[in-house]
Amino acid sequence: MQRILEGKTGLVLGVANKRSIAWSCAQSLAGAGMRLALTYQGERMEKGVRELAAELPGSIALPCDVAQDESLDALFAAVEKEFKGLDALVHAIAFAKREELTGDFFNTSKEGWTIAQEISAFSLVALTRRALPLMEGRSGSIVTMNYNVMGVAKAALEASVRYLANDLGPRGIRVNAISAGPLRTLSSAGIAGFTEILDHVAARAPLRRNITAEEVGDTCLFLASPMSRGITGSVIHVDAGYHVMGV
Ligand SMILES: NC(=O)c1ccc[n+]([C@@H]2O[C@H](COP(=O)([O-])OP(=O)(O)OC[C@H]3O[C@@H](n4cnc5c(N)ncnc54)[C@H](O)[C@@H]3O)[C@@H](O)[C@H]2O)c1
Repeated sequence: MQRILEGKTGLVLGVANKRSIAWSCAQSLAGAGMRLALTYQGERMEKGVRELAAELPGSIALPCDVAQDESLDALFAAVEKEFKGLDALVHAIAFAKREELTGDFFNTSKEGWTIAQEISAFSLVALTRRALPLMEGRSGSIVTMNYNVMGVAKAALEASVRYLANDLGPRGIRVNAISAGPLRTLSSAGIAGFTEILDHVAARAPLRRNITAEEVGDTCLFLASPMSRGITGSVIHVDAGYHVMGV
């Protein structure tokens, strides 16, 4: 791997364990030479994420719950102290209450709707606002994860990518989303019928297989690197081509 991100720094949110998409992104970015701050959500995740961060040279682990403004402020104060500036922000966070992922959509509760929107979509805006002063003048890149599950929150996230791309473009900062095919992770374990979804995609996708988390990580590397300098406001599908099929 060419070390095209040597001397650059990144903040990666969403590592829960080795299966997390955020972890694959972190491995690809660190493999290209980027120093990273990984975040963990609460003490329960701390030990595991600290151990993972220790596998990436020069990288650190910091706490962050995106639902708490003080937690976000503390995160960026710590990142500024450690890195001074920031070249990449990777947002691989989503949350919906398990009961909201099953059953009829019209039964969605107001509370369930609000939590999913706050954690899965608004958090990108809240993070971007705080990252901006650190990314100024560095040709930064912001990458988030889209998905066709949790469609309402993801629609808001995708629209936010376009608004943020327009806001930040004049400052030389790009904002893009990756729409990944299904992957077995802690979060997807909560989706009813997930094994059937994997089988269905593998049977019908143009590449006739499912994707790997490493493939998402490498696309994140591309979007965080100058190789993608002409791309912003876009959704890149890493789904073995499944999205082109009308079946
Ligand atoms: N697994 C899939 O099939 C798949 C496919 C496409 C996109 N995605 C998206 O990828 C992203 C990462 O999910 P994953 O599948 O790697 O699962 P994951 O469970 O490994 O990661 C989800 C992360 O969100 C974090 N999180 C949730 N609430 C938080 C909060 N309040 N503050 C801080 N962090 C919080 C969790 O700690 C966890 O690290 C999500 O946006 C998901 O929708 C997943």
